[in-house]
Amino acid sequence: MKAFWGVVTLVLVGCNGGTGTGGGDSETIDGAEVYDANCTACHGDDGQQGTEVNGTAAANLTVAVPALSDDELKSVITDGSGVMSAVSGVDDAELDPLVEFLREQFPE
Ligand code: HEC
Repeated sequence: MKAFWGVVTLVLVGCNGGTGTGGGDSETIDGAEVYDANCTACHGDDGQQGTEVNGTAAANLTVAVPALSDDELKSVITDGSGVMSAVSGVDDAELDPLVEFLREQFPE
C-alpha cells in the first residue's frame, strides 16, 4: 500500500511540474520562455552578457553550452556550477525543453 501511494504522489508531482509555464505537459513548454525567465538576467538574450556574480562573469554560453553534455547542462541548472547557484525557477518538466533551446541557440 505504501508503495502504491508513492507512485500516485510521483505522478501527481510530475503533472504539477508542467503548470509552471502554463503548459500542462512537457510538449507545450517553450524552452525560449524558460530561458528568458530564468537565465537572461545574467547571461543575456545572446548568452554573452556576462553579469558578474561574486566577481566572476557569467559564462559565455556560445562557448559553454557546446562544451557540456545534456546531462552536464541539466546539472548546472539544477545544482549550479562554481559561483552560479542552482536555478530554482526551472522545474523538472522544463529541463528538456530548456536544454533543447540551448542547443538551438548556442550550437557548436
Ligand atoms: C545569478 C546569475 C545567473 C543566472 C540567473 C544564471 N547563471 Fe549561468 N552562470 C552564472 C555565472 C556567474 C557563471 C560562471 C560560474 C563560474 O565560472 O563559477 C555561470 C555559468 C553557466 C554555465 C557554464 C557552467 C560550466 O560549468 O561550464 C552554463 C551552461 C550556464 N551558466 C547556464 C545557465 C542557464 C541555462 C541558466 C538559466 C536556467 C543560468 N545559467 C542562469 C550566472 C548565472
